[in-house]
Amino acid sequence: MSILIKNGRIVTATDDYTADIFIDGETISMIGKNLSLAADTVIDASGKLVIPGGIDPHVHLEMPFMGAFSSDNYETGTLAALHGGTTTVIDFVIQSQGKSFYEALHDWQSRATGNTYGDYAFHMAVTDFNPETQLEIKDLIEKDGITSFKTFMAYKGSLMIDDRQMVGLMNEVKKHGGIVTTHATNGDIIDYLVSKNKEAGNLSPLYHYLSQPEITESEATGRFIDMAYQTEVNSYIVHMTSEGGLNKVRDAQKRNQKVFVETCIQYLVLDCSVYDRGFESAKWVMSPPIREKKDQAALWAAINQGVVQTLATDHCPFMWDDKCKGEHDFTKIPNGAPGIEHRIELVFSEGVRTGKISLNKMVDITSTSSAKIFGMFPAKGTIAVGTDADIVIFDTQKKHILSASTHHHHCDYSAYEGHEVTGKAETVILRGKVAIDHGNVKIKKGYGKYVKRSKSTEVL
Ligand code: URP
Ligand code: ZN
Ligand code: ZN
Repeated sequence: MSILIKNGRIVTATDDYTADIFIDGETISMIGKNLSLAADTVIDASGKLVIPGGIDPHVHLEMPFMGAFSSDNYETGTLAALHGGTTTVIDFVIQSQGKSFYEALHDWQSRATGNTYGDYAFHMAVTDFNPETQLEIKDLIEKDGITSFKTFMAYKGSLMIDDRQMVGLMNEVKKHGGIVTTHATNGDIIDYLVSKNKEAGNLSPLYHYLSQPEITESEATGRFIDMAYQTEVNSYIVHMTSEGGLNKVRDAQKRNQKVFVETCIQYLVLDCSVYDRGFESAKWVMSPPIREKKDQAALWAAINQGVVQTLATDHCPFMWDDKCKGEHDFTKIPNGAPGIEHRIELVFSEGVRTGKISLNKMVDITSTSSAKIFGMFPAKGTIAVGTDADIVIFDTQKKHILSASTHHHHCDYSAYEGHEVTGKAETVILRGKVAIDHGNVKIKKGYGKYVKRSKSTEVL
């Protein structure tokens, strides 16, 4: 099968020009002006952007967490992602403490394999690093293409590891050329503040926010960076939210250390006023919490300065019934919110259209940098001859309103209900097949492929 995309404005992380793209099979075979080639499908992209398929480096599909499962499974989650122009997601396998990495991997594979619309890869979340699990790292990297190892410095008592485990893991991952990532907040301080609030009878969702002040992120960010400096491992901080955390990264740059940083769309477009809505605020109970407007400004600046390289969603939706388990105790509200579909349209609408970031930067943070950092470049993350034909034809003028009544997430509320955006993915191509055309699904469940990743091409 072949596709000819005519007259689109092709934007990559570095280029911006008008040309035609010829796709033969799963990859791009030619790019040029006025290509006159016969094709099975011809798409007129005049007046539209043609950008690389989005890569969301941080999602949780069908994840067992806090007494529930995140409500999007591999089928609904990857389909919602495609509707929003994200063709590849990286999900987290979560090791159970006392068990092996491979046991967790097989569990996650049993849910994902054959069930996705979009392409997907896995990070390994390490909750128990010990002499046995240490031996599994090499094979995960070299045989299974899992080159990134996520750690939690919070969620004390379930997912958190201590600093001794962290440096041991870093040392082992460094040996085999992988990367260590972290949820950087101080679990002990959070644990203390949660107890204090509970003792005082402060049980509403507002106290979730108040139990995780900025200092918990900046402290852990600095500590993680120091451990990465000591062990010289490639390092990456997930879902950065705060000015204080960013300043720790800037401090590291002063001693010539490079640390990769991700933020998420919700931290750029929402602010902590979402916690002023009584129990409805449970919709935005996530960790770290949504922060202040000054943190939004710091994050946009950090994207432009290259301090932040990637934009994710940390998509982790829960049905409202599950959120209601915490009606009388915020610590029982499963942490996380939906967003996998809206990342690109929101960052275009609120970042590019308002002049905060350039189009090239948008492509870089929504696709290219994740492909490079997580070992998928150049097959994914750009538009060039020979790369996977993962392409989004994006209508920059299309206005629409985000709502649970129209989104494709399997979640009965929207974190952005009533939010108007301008810009929408119109046609989404995944490895040479039209997957979404004007909202209509053109592929079948199971088309999505597991992506075995290589080592980072963006190294320290
Ligand atoms: O609240 C969140 N972010 N839930 C998902 C797990 C995590 O911490 O990333
Ligand atoms: Zn996290
Ligand atoms: Zn997460």
